[in-house]
Amino acid sequence: MHRTHTCGELNLSNLNQEVVLSGWVQKSRDLGGTTFIDVRDRYGLTQLVVNTDDADDLRTKVKDLGREFVIKVTGTVVERSNKNPKMSTGDIEIKVSDLEILNIAKLPPFMIEDETDGGDELRMKYRYLDLRRNPVRNNLILRHKMAQEIRKYLDAEGFLEVETPVLIKSTPEGARDFVVPSRMNPGEFYALPQSPQTFKQLLMVSGFDRYFQIVKCFRDEDLRADRQPEFTQIDCEMAFIEQEDILNMFEGLTRHMFKNVKGIEFDAFPRMHYADAMRLYGSDKPDIRFGMEFVSLTPTLSKGEGETGEGAEDLVKGFGFPVFDNAEFVVGINAKGAASYTRKQLDELTDFIKRPQIGATGLIYMRHNEDGSLKSSVDKFYNEEQLQKWSVAFKTEPGDLVLILSGVKEKARKQLNELRLEMGNRLGLRDKNRFAPLWVIDFPLLEWDEETERYHAMHHPFTSPKPEDIEMLDTDPGNVRANAYDLVINGTEIGGGSIRIHDKKLQSLMFKHLGFSPEEAQKQFGFLLEAFEYGAPPHGGIAFGFDRLVSILAGLDSIRDVIAFPKNNSGRDVMIDSPSTIDDKQKKELSIETTV
Ligand code: AMO
Repeated sequence: MHRTHTCGELNLSNLNQEVVLSGWVQKSRDLGGTTFIDVRDRYGLTQLVVNTDDADDLRTKVKDLGREFVIKVTGTVVERSNKNPKMSTGDIEIKVSDLEILNIAKLPPFMIEDETDGGDELRMKYRYLDLRRNPVRNNLILRHKMAQEIRKYLDAEGFLEVETPVLIKSTPEGARDFVVPSRMNPGEFYALPQSPQTFKQLLMVSGFDRYFQIVKCFRDEDLRADRQPEFTQIDCEMAFIEQEDILNMFEGLTRHMFKNVKGIEFDAFPRMHYADAMRLYGSDKPDIRFGMEFVSLTPTLSKGEGETGEGAEDLVKGFGFPVFDNAEFVVGINAKGAASYTRKQLDELTDFIKRPQIGATGLIYMRHNEDGSLKSSVDKFYNEEQLQKWSVAFKTEPGDLVLILSGVKEKARKQLNELRLEMGNRLGLRDKNRFAPLWVIDFPLLEWDEETERYHAMHHPFTSPKPEDIEMLDTDPGNVRANAYDLVINGTEIGGGSIRIHDKKLQSLMFKHLGFSPEEAQKQFGFLLEAFEYGAPPHGGIAFGFDRLVSILAGLDSIRDVIAFPKNNSGRDVMIDSPSTIDDKQKKELSIETTV
């Protein structure tokens, strides 16, 4: 028998029992004849003890032990004189009677400890060793628990888990496809799914009415902390529903998960129109753990933004300050309590927004000092009376710091979004243990692409426009809103979905607006258009990024830490060394050109 117990379960109730444990040597310390060995498995650590009065061959074996050796020990549970309240097994130790070395181990390239000395690349190369560490293993345990809770909730709601194929043809989610050459069909390729989007819609035509799948998706796009080339979606679709049904169902799923995994309950999720998210936060995924909403100092006249009365008066133009005079848009935030920022800290902020990734040209500030006075970096142009108006607009109090950017509207908003998040970090407003979910709704249907000089589907081409906006498709396509929604938590886009078009005529019209000729549409999506002719029900759905959801619950910045075997930022698996070349014979079979 290899073990009677795991290394995480013995306590005082097991005193005097003869037990067998198996695991890895965490560490071994010889304290003048008495040796303490920590043995570890997935469940925890147990201390073993071998004394000078033990048999010679046992003591020899113990001397030979190295870190990460795999051992099996037999012994008796005894009470520890020096207890460790931090360990679940900290009240006891095992007085060893027999020890067998099941396998020796090379010295690991980094410490298998919670705080390790291994850098990222090294840990990835030896990921199987990294996975022995508690924090990494705990992330995967959390992931497992969440997957179980998702299945429990969706099963109880009548959803069926259906697998869809992985060798398919291109799905238009906006990224590049990974392709797989077909040996049996020379010169032809499969694409790996960017999502099961078209298949889940076909399942609705088939009458499955509530579908889900925890599914791998593949996207060949530039990688970031929250993006992997292969990632997992909780993919869902429902028929005979409206947007409201979807929002309620998946708000329910999110609540269920937080409650059962984290013990956290939420009030109803706030809902924010896309236009408001952009106006107030410069982002379609606002982090609403903190306020610091945008205030515009120039009148904002574009559609949908006038109603709030924001920026009715121009507070910055006409005072001789050329930067503001020449700017389309001037917008700022009130960083509460930051008036004491030093010159150096303000310079750091200026450097931050001038970084090429952000690209702003300069930062204007106004301090509302503790004595009530107002002091700006542009005092030369704006007198006390003028600054008073800014103070009213930003609702400043003594101790506040106003930070202002200017430029072209969209760009200035994006830049201020970065600055707002940075200030949120600096002021400690982005607590990882607080969760602020919200729905962002009413996304635009189309998005102008500068590069190709045409409109693209903002979500995907199957998203339904709002019925009342359909007539604007010809006249004002940029302002057509979609029945599309995102779930955002703490500034991360966790999920996105939409009500779909289920009518062949409208789908064909959409393809036309997206620049597909009828022939192209037929070639790429003929199967879907044809299916719509056989009784497609009204339907819609959503997909959550499962890796992102787990990383948010785990309080982590990168989804890599919640994936067992992730890729690095160049899309490489440095452990198995992939991607790699294939030999000429294989290439020939696949009808791929060889360079020889
Ligand atoms: P979308 O493209 O918005 O929608 O994707 C859904 C969610 O998947 C996650 N996600 C990613 N996670 C990690 N790495 C990536 N590279 C990556 N790309 C996306 C995000 C995102 O919100 N078929 C539609 C869904 C639908 O309409 O039902 C879709 O895929 O969390």
